[in-house]
Amino acid sequence: MTIVMGIETSCDETGIGFVQDGVLLGDALASSMDEHARFGGVVPEIAARAHLQAMVPTVHAALVNARINLGDVGAVAVTAGPGLATALHVGVAAAKAYSLALGVQLYGVHHLAGHAAADTLEHGPLPDRSVALIVSGGHTSLLFVRDLVRTPIVHLSDTFDDAAGEAFDKVARLIGLPYPVGPSIDRAARDGDRTAIAFPRPLTGVNDPPLGFSFSGLKTAVARYVEKNPGADVNDLAASFQEAVADVLTAKAIRACRQQDVDTLVVVGGVAANSRIRALAQERCDSAGIELRVPPMRLCTDNGAMIAAIGDLLVRNGASPSPLDFSAVPTVELQQAQLT
Ligand code: KG4
Ligand code: ZN
Repeated sequence: MTIVMGIETSCDETGIGFVQDGVLLGDALASSMDEHARFGGVVPEIAARAHLQAMVPTVHAALVNARINLGDVGAVAVTAGPGLATALHVGVAAAKAYSLALGVQLYGVHHLAGHAAADTLEHGPLPDRSVALIVSGGHTSLLFVRDLVRTPIVHLSDTFDDAAGEAFDKVARLIGLPYPVGPSIDRAARDGDRTAIAFPRPLTGVNDPPLGFSFSGLKTAVARYVEKNPGADVNDLAASFQEAVADVLTAKAIRACRQQDVDTLVVVGGVAANSRIRALAQERCDSAGIELRVPPMRLCTDNGAMIAAIGDLLVRNGASPSPLDFSAVPTVELQQAQLT
């Protein structure tokens, strides 16, 4: 069975993972998060330089972790998009170099397909039909998924404006929580009252698109509240905002499952690491008789194992490798797991 190396560099994490026949052999992660902290967000040029520095050491760390040698690698998969162009280029160039040096096939894959595949490393193959809620820094979508690598993925809805992670990032900055912000809201919310402030639940009116998402109005509502109540408790703000996001995401995800008549919901992406979203999704899936699948926290945020996982599915499905002249694609909707 082929060992697939996965390379992820779409944002600020350099992730390398090795997967064989659906099993994660080992992985390693380097992050340039600290270098972006003083700018309050990811700086693309800094991220690219950090990927370049971290690439070879992270590959070696992952090899040690997986207890394999580079010569054991039988195929290379890399995030070709979407993501920061400068950052993606580093991963794609490294993947081409490893593929050429090792004489093995190369697969350019979609980052979000990787997020979905991450769950298979923990819970095994996906069922024939499922709904996936993808919630990351750049995307918020409800998808109808059949075979991840064989059948085109159907978008049931996408956010009309900000992604859920983007809303977390902007609101955290607004209420003065430190970067990296997703986890800091999560932490602050644990000491807050989620019923303290009734923030709006966007697009939940009777005339609104039933599966549609919008988070920019919610962000504005938090900004207005903070303006009017400068002494508001930060923990209550964090908990109440987080509750509004969790409520809308999980209610619509359950509705999508009912609409598609599926009994499995998969929640993936960096925001799926959020403890309240995980808990509320579990609660609501239990009452709706839907099986919830969420990857362990470390496989929710960007990593190399998820890219190896989707590469492994492609290899086992006999997919044709990508041509060596493909380039990174910074913006591309998820329809196919393989991008090129
Ligand atoms: O999937 P990901 O690692 O990168 C992208 O593909 O965008 O997602 C990153 C996003 C960021 O917006 C970050 O704030 C958010 O995931 N995030 C969280 C948590 N951990 C990460 N949001 C809420 N709660 C968390 N615990
Ligand atoms: Zn991601």
